[in-house]
Amino acid sequence: MTSQDALQKTFTDMFGATPRIFRAPGRVNLIGGHLDYNEGWVLPIAIDRSCFVAASVRNDSRLRIHSVQMQETFECHLDDPRPPQHHWSNYVRGVAWALREAGQPIAGADLLISNDVPMGAGLSSSAALEVSTAFALLRVLGLEVDRVQLARICQRAENGYVGMRCGIMDQLVACCGRRAHALLIDCRTLEIEPVPFDESSVAVVVANTMVKHALAASSEYNRRRAECDDAVARIRALRPEVKTLRDVSWREIEQIASTWPDNIRRRARHVTTEMLRVHAAADALRKGDFAELGRLISEAHVSLDIDYEVSSVELNVMVALAKQIPGILGARMTGAGFGGCTMNLICPNDASGFVDKLAKSYEEKTRIKPDVYVCHASDGVEEIV
Ligand code: GLA
Repeated sequence: MTSQDALQKTFTDMFGATPRIFRAPGRVNLIGGHLDYNEGWVLPIAIDRSCFVAASVRNDSRLRIHSVQMQETFECHLDDPRPPQHHWSNYVRGVAWALREAGQPIAGADLLISNDVPMGAGLSSSAALEVSTAFALLRVLGLEVDRVQLARICQRAENGYVGMRCGIMDQLVACCGRRAHALLIDCRTLEIEPVPFDESSVAVVVANTMVKHALAASSEYNRRRAECDDAVARIRALRPEVKTLRDVSWREIEQIASTWPDNIRRRARHVTTEMLRVHAAADALRKGDFAELGRLISEAHVSLDIDYEVSSVELNVMVALAKQIPGILGARMTGAGFGGCTMNLICPNDASGFVDKLAKSYEEKTRIKPDVYVCHASDGVEEIV
């Protein structure tokens, strides 16, 4: 039985109806860490790990949601007040709330959710959950929203309902991912350029450190945003036309930042130098210069670690070990940081040997068994037929 058949059967046993099934992918960001909320550019790929949602409409205004991973069913009315507690169902309820706020006539539905994207590992499991749920709700109700708008609605769910001030990148990739392509996204205009990602020349290996510092991640993420706002306020005192760090170069900042607090100066240095690296990386990808792409990615990791201070001991160990293995082109943390996964670019012929060697050396060093696997660039949200 395929996992799709299993999902269908579980749904029918649980809810007594035949569902339609949808999926939305997780992502790795090749480069452009913490640039989306600074209105910069990012270069992610959607991966072949997805959140699956089986769904059917109800003839009332209730949501019945079962999560396979949480082994829990949650039921509520669409008009119920927002719950104060942190609960996985808030991502789903938040999506229904944000869709209604956007004027979509959402009605009740039964939803069975199975998320293949590891949670809290920097591969964007929450955006995969939000986007697959939103798309499923719309489709079973016969409604349509364009993909960029859908990403905005899902980001609103996370910002306004779940309470995480994330940028737009994850939701946009989950909506607009393209098989065999990376997406160069301008996070100010939301323009997307799909750039071919030739997997016969380069392989992507994800390595999960199995360590997450969830508490640090959410508070430090919001703190980084505030630090970037602080840098912009200092620049605006001299140049009021500047809206975000996208509008200035490190060269300009360097001339005025000698009296700034050290952390603010370094956050601004990461953001402004990373913008240049994203463009250089997109150029390298267009030319098929994977050695240069890898070099830039490794440089980005150092900047995220030293200047932006969002790496962790385990991420740094994983990156350092990867660099000693033949075939490595570049390695960096991916996602918000503070644990989770690294992303490695490898010469394809070396990929399977690399996976085994990295898993073995990380376990020897840390006594933690990591999850290491090859990923493929995949499509965005879709109905599975
Ligand atoms: C998380 C957020 C994104 C982005 C990344 C860092 O994944 O959800 O919006 O800011 O961190 O690049």
